Amino acid sequence: MSTVLLYNDVYGGEHMSVLERVASLIVTGSMLVSGALDTACPQNDPEGLLLVNRSWRISSEYVPEVRQANVPGQVRRLMPHVADALEAMYAAAKAEAGVTLVSVSGYRAYDKQERIYKSKLKRVRGDVEAANAYVALPGTSEHQTGLTMDVGQKNLSSDKNLSGSFGDSKGGIWLRDNCWRFGFIIRYQEGWEDITGYAYEPWHVRYVGMEVAQRLHENNMPLEEFLMIERTAIMLSLISQGQGSGE
Ligand code: DAL
Ligand code: ZN
Repeated sequence: MSTVLLYNDVYGGEHMSVLERVASLIVTGSMLVSGALDTACPQNDPEGLLLVNRSWRISSEYVPEVRQANVPGQVRRLMPHVADALEAMYAAAKAEAGVTLVSVSGYRAYDKQERIYKSKLKRVRGDVEAANAYVALPGTSEHQTGLTMDVGQKNLSSDKNLSGSFGDSKGGIWLRDNCWRFGFIIRYQEGWEDITGYAYEPWHVRYVGMEVAQRLHENNMPLEEFLMIERTAIMLSLISQGQGSGE
């Protein structure tokens, strides 16, 4: 597995709220004085809470370890522990709701994301804003992490899968209410556009682990907000440790 390279585009983060911007500046400043924060932050864990969005990017070289998930559908590769969780989730959807979930798009290499972005841009006749609302620029997609899957429902018409109406389908409703039990979150929810940077995507699930998924589900909280709180807590604890050691 290659090394994950992250950098924070603090000044170019067009979708950052003022709060996020201030928090990023504080965090970035503290990273300069302490590499400890870098290693302590859960957002840098490539198997867990790795943060990838318009502002937090990954290198074009980054390639996670992935395997084919044993589920119906296409583009089924994910990190092994995420594929395990996905398989358990699909089996539960079948057993509990009689729904066959399918995989539409899991791991996508940097180059593949580049092709998808270019093709989307073509379809919206060069309207960058329209393309950016749904497709991440290469290097800013969670699909490159191997932690993410676009989920569909078998036998749902192709215009409903990968559309807002998937959220109203049996499979979409089951996914929304239950994915946290398997460590996933619905990453881009309605009303979160200013925080996540993307339009509502009821099909895009992101693995964060069971404990955090449950917390985010119960508090109806985007990953960015959770990580901001975590980063701030870690930073304050590092500062207080630093003060303590100086006594
Ligand atoms: N559709 C999501 C934002 C992606 O392209 O990664
Ligand atoms: Zn997606």
